Amino acid sequence: MAEVKRRDFLGMTLGGVTAVGAIASLIAMKKTWDPLPSVISAGITTIDIGNMKEGDFSRVEWRGKPVFIIKKIKGDHFDEKRDFKIGEDIYTLGLQICTHLGCIPFYKADEGEFLCPCHGGRFTTDGINIAGTPPPRPLDIPPFKIEGTILTLGVSGAEYEKMIAQA
Ligand code: FES
Repeated sequence: MAEVKRRDFLGMTLGGVTAVGAIASLIAMKKTWDPLPSVISAGITTIDIGNMKEGDFSRVEWRGKPVFIIKKIKGDHFDEKRDFKIGEDIYTLGLQICTHLGCIPFYKADEGEFLCPCHGGRFTTDGINIAGTPPPRPLDIPPFKIEGTILTLGVSGAEYEKMIAQA
């Protein structure tokens, strides 16, 4: 009887040590895979817009919010308050969240404007609210930075600062 109890004790001890080791390994693996706290708190989204063609519309998520990027067609108006250039190419961007009550407007490429289905709000391609529709102001522009064809959302760069200065 005493022999059986000793064997049980050894089995439980070995099992306990194995379980603790497995948990410690999982914690170590999780720490390895998790992004650094500085990356999480920075809330940065980076995309290469070099492949966009004229007239292309692209949408990415930044801090859980939709952000649109449109490459304008050559000859389109360049709005210093809402657009930026890479070489001769013109781009515009903004938060795709209606400034009326926060719905998500969709882009109608053929008409060159955003339509908010909630109350009929409309915005130009540049995100400017169209008079006579509910939104009280243009779509917000997130802070961004341009390096080559890399667009980084969440960092205030020269192009963004220039826009803000014009506004
Ligand atoms: S929320 Fe967009 S028009 Fe009302």
